[in-house]
Amino acid sequence: MDFEKEIARRRTFGIISHPDAGKTTLTEKLLLFGGAIQEAGAVKNNKIKKSATSDFMEIERQRGISVATSVLAFIYKDKKINILDTPGHKDFAEDTFRTLTAVDSVIVVIDVAKGVEEQTEKLVEVCRMRNIPMIVFINKLDREGKDAFDLLDEVEQKLGLSVTPLSFPIGMGFDFKGIYNIYEKNINLFSGNSKQNIEETIAFTDIESLELENIIGESAAAELRDNLELVSGVYPEFDMNAYLNGTQQPVFFGSALNNFGVRELLDCFIDIAPAPRAKMAEERLVESDEKDFSGFVFKIHANMDPKHRDRLAFIKIVSGTFERNKPYLHVRHDKKLKFSSPNAFFAEKKEIVDISFPGDIVGLHDTGNFKIGDTLTNGEKLNYRGIPSFSPEHFRYINNADPMKAKQLGKGIDQLMDEGVAQLFTLEMNGRKVIGTVGALQYEVIQYRLEHEYGAKCTYENFPVYKACWVEVDDPNHEEFKEFKRVKQKFLAQDKRGQLVFLADSAFSLQMTQQKYPSVTLRFTSELT
Ligand code: G4P
Repeated sequence: MDFEKEIARRRTFGIISHPDAGKTTLTEKLLLFGGAIQEAGAVKNNKIKKSATSDFMEIERQRGISVATSVLAFIYKDKKINILDTPGHKDFAEDTFRTLTAVDSVIVVIDVAKGVEEQTEKLVEVCRMRNIPMIVFINKLDREGKDAFDLLDEVEQKLGLSVTPLSFPIGMGFDFKGIYNIYEKNINLFSGNSKQNIEETIAFTDIESLELENIIGESAAAELRDNLELVSGVYPEFDMNAYLNGTQQPVFFGSALNNFGVRELLDCFIDIAPAPRAKMAEERLVESDEKDFSGFVFKIHANMDPKHRDRLAFIKIVSGTFERNKPYLHVRHDKKLKFSSPNAFFAEKKEIVDISFPGDIVGLHDTGNFKIGDTLTNGEKLNYRGIPSFSPEHFRYINNADPMKAKQLGKGIDQLMDEGVAQLFTLEMNGRKVIGTVGALQYEVIQYRLEHEYGAKCTYENFPVYKACWVEVDDPNHEEFKEFKRVKQKFLAQDKRGQLVFLADSAFSLQMTQQKYPSVTLRFTSELT
């Protein structure tokens, strides 16, 4: 097998959007193109996730939230495509942020009527900070929505992007006639009942051709020509390097539900989206075509099989090949581990693989060895950076509700924290445990999982904290730091890694603390590059 060729044919990406913009629908249509699923509705009906179904998933399903960040892989035109699914719900944003450390590019889905929404803003900001190449897909063109130019403006302003449309809609909603594909120079006509059909396209190298009138009518033809003139006047030409550097974002329009504009998106995507890229470790930059294996854990999925309480650690391969039954170094534990049944993911199933390449995701059965952010290598001591922990926004004391099950509770909390479900803080003053989460929903998830997976019961008690900040000082013996520790003792805690955290009870007290102790740095994220 040609190692370089295998890397070059891989595209590992995530689809991000505000809930309901059409991420699931688009994912499903992409899978249909890859022949990975046979029918529409498979993703939605959770068929694909069947193997991952568990009690825990049940509560999320009932709430209609897709929580599991799963991997869906398929082959399209000889490209191996790995889609890392990302939950759109804000309570699970942290999960999504972590998944973004494992993608090489993203597709941003925006609802034509709603425009740029809150969750999209947050997720795109993270991608922008990391210069991740982004393609924007404006969805639901079969519905009335905002004017295309207004939307492009909104995307630029609210998301801070520099866009260039690679397709342009002809009409919208009731009058939606189709899409002019600027990238391929052809027209794709929309017919309302096209549902799952792949449309025929009409090539149009010369947009001035009189043929256009015959096809879409006089007024639509005139409008399209005007619009395209405006597009070429206002927006820069597509620049591959700018896209790859994260400084220009191509835009496509379509209707995922009607499978319209999706093939264009996919064809362009496999053409321009980057193959697995180099990744920065604390020690050095690691190129994807290096022969030695390295990879990192970006997600731990628990309870695939409730009977065994096993977990699956998802590893993104950065360099080299990952082979079954070969010993690899678990850098944090400084110990070699072998994996007899690494899983690869295909659309509807996971299966054991002998060899995986950079860009691929493998799922390793884990009995508690892994934490999010762990690095595995051939032997070199590398630590991949940039698995972020964000300052939680909700805080509650956690109490044991069943004294006979203290051990189970401890173990359960420990493992759930390793999975990154929430963050645990231990108060310096009295050793009480506080759970911090990004969204309130996690408390119920934790309570449910503790009971169903560990047989432990917990209760919560409110703990009014405004923000948790990680404390950093150059000199721990500095008088100012000593005073900070003395005065703020009541508000100090340790996170799971033993790092000092300041729990500010209000925005005011946070500000005062920052002013009073300028040599003490308070950070809102931990381990973010
Ligand atoms: P999400 O994963 O981003 O949360 O969105 P999802 O794909 O679940 O889509 C949200 C809703 O938007 C769904 O409707 C879906 O059918 C609809 N939708 C997606 N793409 C299009 C499109 O191109 N045009 C139109 N008109 N609608 C679209 P729902 O009623 O919530 O679900 P369902 O009952 O249709 O499954």
